Amino acid sequence: MKNNTTKNSCRSLEADILANRALILVSNRGPVSFDVAEKGNLQFRIGEGGLVKALLGLCRHTAATWIACAQTDADATWQADQLALWEDDSTVHVRFLAPEAEAYEGYYNVIANPLLWFLQHSMWDVPRTPVINRSTWQAWEQGYIPVNRMFAEAIAGQILANEQPTLVMLQDYHLYLVARFLRDQLEDHEQQPTLLHFIHIPWPGPEYWRILPPTMRQTILDALCAVDLLGFQTREDGLNFIRTCESLLPHAEVDFKRGRVWYRNHAVHIRDFPISIDVEALRELAGSPGVAMYRPEFQGIIGGRQLILRVDRIEPSKNIIRGFQAFEELLELYPEHQDRVKFLAILVPSRLDVDEYQNYLDELMAAAGRVNARYGSSNWEPIRLLVGEDYPRAVAALQVYDVLLVNAVDDGMNLVAKEGPMVNQHQGVLILSERAGARQQLESGAIIISPCDVYATAEALHQALTMSEAERATRADRLRWLIEREDITAWLCHQLEALVELNLIEQ
Ligand code: G6P
Repeated sequence: MKNNTTKNSCRSLEADILANRALILVSNRGPVSFDVAEKGNLQFRIGEGGLVKALLGLCRHTAATWIACAQTDADATWQADQLALWEDDSTVHVRFLAPEAEAYEGYYNVIANPLLWFLQHSMWDVPRTPVINRSTWQAWEQGYIPVNRMFAEAIAGQILANEQPTLVMLQDYHLYLVARFLRDQLEDHEQQPTLLHFIHIPWPGPEYWRILPPTMRQTILDALCAVDLLGFQTREDGLNFIRTCESLLPHAEVDFKRGRVWYRNHAVHIRDFPISIDVEALRELAGSPGVAMYRPEFQGIIGGRQLILRVDRIEPSKNIIRGFQAFEELLELYPEHQDRVKFLAILVPSRLDVDEYQNYLDELMAAAGRVNARYGSSNWEPIRLLVGEDYPRAVAALQVYDVLLVNAVDDGMNLVAKEGPMVNQHQGVLILSERAGARQQLESGAIIISPCDVYATAEALHQALTMSEAERATRADRLRWLIEREDITAWLCHQLEALVELNLIEQ
């Protein structure tokens, strides 16, 4: 009941705010992707996940444009136009930018991933990496900067074309420079947009940002200080941002209590809005035949044993290898689990054009192979890897785990930690890294581990596998309750409420 009330009041807040206001959503990856069907017609697929759906939901209230980088040739040929995604006659204007291949390469494959991603997930091995050389600088100057400027130009054009004041919602680390370029472009115009930028990944402290050369880090901080409301996943990320400005952005005046940085005659407000999942849609999917059809496959794989599961992008920050090492340690410390437990890793290929990701895939396969060679037998393969992108299959696996392992070395939020408990049917136990953003909300229902501590992770696995039914049920209930009361609608709603409370938008 409470949830429905909250949802309804969120929807009416969305409608109120957007009644007299145009909306521009901006992200690297668009909400849809096109390909060419038979006869040369373009057909599109809507991106998976609650975020796209929630943001698209906003578009239904007003004239909305979503600007993103083309991911396919077919995206690039799509002439920015209205797209009808719903059964009623509402539409969203989707506009793809198509930077030169070389510029995109520098922006995405050199600066955003890996440089910024690794930095913000504290993954550099500083005595050796990163090596910021001439080609990194070239990627910065001829990739990251121009692609960000291109976004700003497209947004500015749209703002000037809009008849109403515009709310711009920028997403993530690919677009750090957009706000400053946009302010510069609109300097002489009356129409100043409200800028909200949400950063989905962790924000480390100034000690770590100091790894970036001063020009790069100051350009990023300067640009983010042109935003009106800057959202982070956790309170700590927000505080780290303020600390970073205090230490590394000359002339910035910071106010920790108010969550504000004053810089170049402008205030940027800093808040945390932990992202979540679309609980309703996930439940519906979990009950669908598309998910049920995978059950026999998993019964076969598990073969009546207990199941430890992980579901991740193939991503070094997910700490997949230490997960296997912890499992190995478990089998050594507690041999009674041998042949009684299966570790299933569902791995989704990601960013394989970046060397670090390709190498990581090779390393994790070798690590799993070592455990299997050491402990496996003709009727027991301790670790099974399933590589590929198949969301219904992942949901089917989440329904049947006994233990879900989320041991990321660092993670903005980690939505698997929220999806798992919502669909699991075995009162499964969540083992959660203390460095995943999800810890802030889920701590009381999970077993918390320090991600580099393989020994403690092995002990946590043992604790979870041998936990009493009653305790499993209590924890699982608690997790469901925690996740349900703050789902993706709340994430969006809290951002809009903050805009109103801070007088950044008139209602
Ligand atoms: C993270 C980032 C997103 C990104 C996603 C997938 O969740 O915060 O911005 O879109 O990973 O990564 P990809 O590089 O494939 O878009």
